[in-house]
Amino acid sequence: MRDRYRIAPRRVSFDWQHTPLHWIPDEPTATHVINVLHLLLPAGERWFVKVFKEALPLVRDEALLKDVKGFMGQESTHSVQHSYVLRHLAEQGLDTGPYTQRVDFLFDVLLGDRPPFGLRLSEREWLRFRLSVIAAVEQFTAVLGDWVLRADSLDEAEPDPVMLDLLRWHGAEEVEHRSVAFDMYQHCGGSDPARYARRLLGMAITAPMLFYLWGWGAGYLIRHDPWLAGRLRYSLREHNRAVAKGLLPTWRELGSAVPRYARRSYHPSQEGSLRKALDYLATSPAARAAAGAVGRAALS
Ligand SMILES: [Fe+2]
Ligand SMILES: [Fe+2]
Repeated sequence: MRDRYRIAPRRVSFDWQHTPLHWIPDEPTATHVINVLHLLLPAGERWFVKVFKEALPLVRDEALLKDVKGFMGQESTHSVQHSYVLRHLAEQGLDTGPYTQRVDFLFDVLLGDRPPFGLRLSEREWLRFRLSVIAAVEQFTAVLGDWVLRADSLDEAEPDPVMLDLLRWHGAEEVEHRSVAFDMYQHCGGSDPARYARRLLGMAITAPMLFYLWGWGAGYLIRHDPWLAGRLRYSLREHNRAVAKGLLPTWRELGSAVPRYARRSYHPSQEGSLRKALDYLATSPAARAAAGAVGRAALS
């Protein structure tokens, strides 16, 4: 499939003006659990691009280099578009600054250019470790992307169409580039068994970290939501209620991604449906709106 098209960023345009704070009507828990994406991705995806830039000189394969550059373009677009949502949340009275400052610290300092806590690792080893973390995160973004493309219950809940489009456009590109971070890690990660052991370590650190950040983020958003004014708390019960309605992925869908990734012969090309992703990208309103704007600008 890789030879048939190039991975490249798409121009998109989202208009947040009419998106309500609870963009899934009457479902604040599902709304805010999904909103955690906007808290983590602007800093997280910016960090992906930074680490990949550092690793580019190690790439000795032309096809991979093209994929990696396309991946970097897509991730930096995602990061920018999610940061616009944060601005929109702030305009509606939900300030996410205190949370995102911690996320910035995680990516800029704990996972920054040098190992934290005075850890004595070579530059090369520290880079390889960070690449293994990116590959592990991308396992989850592929699973979530596949989920959001298939989540018919979300449509039935009549969510804000702009937010649903953002999630599906992003999810579809995650499915489209699902193998790139893994291939990059395999290419730059040295040789087995150290490479395979580090791949497992990357996942062993990433999965609990994401789980923790997600719970903390959902709790933060619900606590600071001016519409809820403290009437609701984030709880496993409310979360599972939203899962049962099909508004969030099941624990099994998320959890099974880990042992699958741990298999020695694993490759992410088996995640999700590339056809479904490309079909969505061909019709995404945000992509069409941006294409229309470009067309209009050319005519004027
Ligand atoms: Fe992304
Ligand atoms: Fe991605």
